[in-house]
Amino acid sequence: MSAVRVVRDAADLARTAAEHVAARAAEAIAARGRCNLVLAGGETPRAAYGLLASEAFAGRVDWGRVQFFWGDERCVPPDDPRSNYRTAREALLDRVRVPSENVHRIRGEDDPTGAAAAYDRLLRDMPGRFDLVLLGMGADGHTASLFPGHAAVRERVRLALAERMEPVDMWRVTLTPPAFNAARDVLFLVAGAGKAETLARVLEAPREPELLPAQSIAPAQGELTWLVDAQAAARLAQTARG
Ligand code: 6PG
Repeated sequence: MSAVRVVRDAADLARTAAEHVAARAAEAIAARGRCNLVLAGGETPRAAYGLLASEAFAGRVDWGRVQFFWGDERCVPPDDPRSNYRTAREALLDRVRVPSENVHRIRGEDDPTGAAAAYDRLLRDMPGRFDLVLLGMGADGHTASLFPGHAAVRERVRLALAERMEPVDMWRVTLTPPAFNAARDVLFLVAGAGKAETLARVLEAPREPELLPAQSIAPAQGELTWLVDAQAAARLAQTARG
């Protein structure tokens, strides 16, 4: 089941996303003693990560019971400004009490294929399912590092793989549709006018996941919510607005 939730602006999106993370984490920890949380890369989620680390959310999440994963990583060292791990570390992980053994970063500094194989094994050994996956979407319809026309979108067996992504001229390690679609809950965060046309195509045009990889995300037994700001929602048909 999928839903579209339109909020006023990027600040509202960050607040709503942080609330969603806190609520899902509390549910998972209460039910299963842990929360398997997959963080998104890029810039959009940064404000939500910062809010989760702020006084406003202090005490809302038992971070010691949250296991952190990433939906994708750029193949760069962990202290590189382009690293998705570094973004989350600076905005959230360094500001809340998380045991280092709970942080399962993709080793972007290693050989990409080896790092992907290690992450695939880690995901297969992980107790339980992903309780919440956060994803962003690029203006070309990519999500995580599933880019249009690249093999990763077609992957049906591996949970993580490495591929050189021409659009960004770099190697990436990404989780695959089978990995994302096994989650209990997936939350897309999409903001800004620059994504309005693509968002309308992803949500309302015929399904062509090879061209619009964000369309490959459809949890088999889970929730899917598109959390979008008014600018990104501007091209949606009225009926789609949550
Ligand atoms: C990455 C992300 C990528 C991102 C989108 C949107 O590694 O860059 O995984 O999929 O979510 O490109 O990025 P913005 O939030 O910066 O627009």
